[in-house]
Amino acid sequence: MTVTAVIGSQWGDEGKGKAVDFLAERMDYVARFNGGNNAGHTVINDFGTFKIHLVPSGIFAQNTTGLIGGGVVIDPQVLIDEIEMLNKAGVAVDGRLWVSPRSHLIMPYHKILDGLYEEAKGAGATGTTRRGIGPVFADKVSYNGIRWTDFTSDMFEQRLQVQLTLKNKIIVALGGEALKFEDVRDTYRGYYLKLKPYIRELFSLVQDGLKTEKNFLLEQAMGTFLDTDWGTYPFVTASTTIPAAASAGLGIPPKHITNVIGVTKAYTTRVGGGPLPTEIHDVESEVYKKFGEVAATTGRIRRVGWLDLEIVRTAVDLSGVTELCLTKLDVLSGLDEIQVCVGYQLNGKDIRYADVDAYGLDTVALVYKKFKGWQQDISKARSFDELPQEAKDYVSMIEEYAGAPVKWIGVGPERDATIRR
Ligand code: GDP
Ligand code: IMO
Ligand code: MG
Repeated sequence: MTVTAVIGSQWGDEGKGKAVDFLAERMDYVARFNGGNNAGHTVINDFGTFKIHLVPSGIFAQNTTGLIGGGVVIDPQVLIDEIEMLNKAGVAVDGRLWVSPRSHLIMPYHKILDGLYEEAKGAGATGTTRRGIGPVFADKVSYNGIRWTDFTSDMFEQRLQVQLTLKNKIIVALGGEALKFEDVRDTYRGYYLKLKPYIRELFSLVQDGLKTEKNFLLEQAMGTFLDTDWGTYPFVTASTTIPAAASAGLGIPPKHITNVIGVTKAYTTRVGGGPLPTEIHDVESEVYKKFGEVAATTGRIRRVGWLDLEIVRTAVDLSGVTELCLTKLDVLSGLDEIQVCVGYQLNGKDIRYADVDAYGLDTVALVYKKFKGWQQDISKARSFDELPQEAKDYVSMIEEYAGAPVKWIGVGPERDATIRR
């Protein structure tokens, strides 16, 4: 039995979807354990191009079973659409995708409240995906959530009544329109009936798997620095993103999570508000144009910056990363010079990321190293030896500062555009 967690070592969108897709082949179970459909994981393989929000990205491997753990929050319509999309693409998911009845549901009022909170914060807004993530997790931990299991008794209606009484008061006070109990009840009953064949307690499945030499691949959503506790609070997401969350979110004892793959983009991106120490602001610059990306979930433009190795090193320490998967190395091709942040200083002294809060990060001095770039297109390289010396040096430098070996290198978005070492 092996349990491998795949985590993003930056602010999300590191390329976890692609990594999970190519790692899934030798797995029995592929699982999501945190977050919700704020995630957007891109997978490009023989089945086509997909932006996946809830189903584990490893579902394309024929022998895998997909699990959506109780730590995940679910917008039922998004899950229904995703299942339909996968079935249409020839990825049969029936009988091999299971959703925990403990997972909490994103209700219409969560999405409305997410938007209202953001607007109230004005310039200080978090820049959420407006998928209702903050409000649904707030309800979860304040005992106000609604779960699939509530549909097996009259709990669903009882709990919905209470929540609508409370939530409608807030919505109306803030200028919104009250939700009707019957409408929400009927819509969500409909969702439940459609998704019922996929809902199943995962406890025995997972425990039996752990005892019978099965291989598990755990797919984190978001990144280390969007973690509620360790991220750049309050510019974070509402769930724990480090592998510790996989334990609670799936019911896997921490001692089993022995392999942790840190997916690291060769530069840095961030969507939404909050600090990005190495940010490149010059929108006309060559690097800005090269690094630019469109967010998979919201279609927003991602902010960009140079690689920040203090950030990656912190993620390695926090999550016990055993191996790194470096992505998007191909994007750096063609630059004359590449800059990398290798440390933070405050008042002339070396400090760690954790020594300052999110607002303090804007005031730290960044220690940069400059590297000579390479001009060759590396997207066809499939072995480390085929890379130009400058690219090899860049990879070695990452290993040295981050403190973990780079085992995979992405040289393109497709599944096979990967160097294995
Ligand atoms: P995730 O949320 O961590 O799964 O990452 P996203 O899918 O949101 O964003 C990563 C983007 O980079 C997607 O557009 C991927 O197709 C793309 N991508 C991943 N790995 C590579 C790579 O090695 N090279 C290139 N050029 N693109 C990549
Ligand atoms: P994947 O899994 C990048 C960011 C949002 C916002 C903050 C809070 O694709 O890497 P939320 O909607 O979660 O309340 O928003 O978190 N965010 C992500 N950024 N990738 C993601 O997921 C993200 N999920 C949330 O942009 O700044
Ligand atoms: Mg993404």
